[in-house]
Amino acid sequence: MENIDWRNLPFGYYPTDYNVRCYGRNGKWGELEVSSSEYISIHMAATTLHYGQEAFEGMKAFRGVDGKVRLFRWQDNARRLRSSADGIMMQEVPDEVFFAAIEKAVRLNARFIPPYGTGASLYIRPLLFGSGPQVGVKPATEYMFLVFVGPVGPYFKEGFRPVTVELVRDYDRAAPRGTGHIKVGGNYAASLRPATRAAKNGYSTVLFLDAKEQKYIDEAGPANFFGIRNNTYITPESHTILPSITNKSIETLAKDAGMKVERRPVPVEELELFEEVGACGTAAIISPIGKIVDTAFGKVYEYGTEAGKNSTMLYKRLKAIQEAEMEDIYGWTTVIEGI
Ligand code: PLP
Ligand code: COI
Repeated sequence: MENIDWRNLPFGYYPTDYNVRCYGRNGKWGELEVSSSEYISIHMAATTLHYGQEAFEGMKAFRGVDGKVRLFRWQDNARRLRSSADGIMMQEVPDEVFFAAIEKAVRLNARFIPPYGTGASLYIRPLLFGSGPQVGVKPATEYMFLVFVGPVGPYFKEGFRPVTVELVRDYDRAAPRGTGHIKVGGNYAASLRPATRAAKNGYSTVLFLDAKEQKYIDEAGPANFFGIRNNTYITPESHTILPSITNKSIETLAKDAGMKVERRPVPVEELELFEEVGACGTAAIISPIGKIVDTAFGKVYEYGTEAGKNSTMLYKRLKAIQEAEMEDIYGWTTVIEGI
């Protein structure tokens, strides 16, 4: 076991022992290769570098109360990576290759899996990109699939404490019929300027509006958005947001806890009515939002300095399933035996 200050880990890159790689050509994937180098050597005309043929995933492995290590809903990440690959014409990674690479990366770096009860987990970053050369704008004929891992703490330094976010009105992260629904690097590139400006002004993250009409809430920089009122969990329905696996899980937990669940367009004005709001995602887990500042319109929405009772309940249940304190009646977790 590594000698790491697990409880104070930030969310960031952490070097570990090994990563796992695999090349794909003509629809087939080669053998998994284990590497201890943090670098990759790729063609200077690789399509990922020029035309943004790149997609990634974010998932976590948790050490449970019973000492076992579990992946959370990995099949959903595998499916989403295929949807991203399909969206920008990359070779798709089948479940078998996806799981084998992840399992290997977790196993080989088992000493970096944070202990139970520290609030930290092992972040898994699968990456798929066009490694073959093209100078004309065309899909590559060779792809690289790579998985690295690293121990992380909560995405926002506040942890499970309300954060302040800025509502962005002068930038869009994704076009109405573009790539917002898939996890491709370009979406994040588009978010860097508003997100960096917001960070400089003291905000934890940004909240984007729908790009077509700027009327509806889309999502936060690295996470989906939700609001709660009248015992109802409400989350935006939009083609330009990433279908969050965490959000889908929370919807199920909310329903099973007796709440109503609505997935529909959420007009900005509704911010006035919510009792609790938050951001959710693998990295963000559930991050309560205490304040939303609409700088352009000079409006501030406040939700208190403590996490709301429903957000707290949902956060606890989600974590309890991930860390095996509560029975996983949904079949969301997969144990990696023997580590
Ligand atoms: N939205 C964006 C833009 C993200 O980057 C993420 C992170 O993966 C999410 C939402 C949350 O998705 P998930 O819960 O599947 O991690
Ligand atoms: C995740 O939640 O896993 C993400 O990918 C969010 C972010 C770090 C891009």
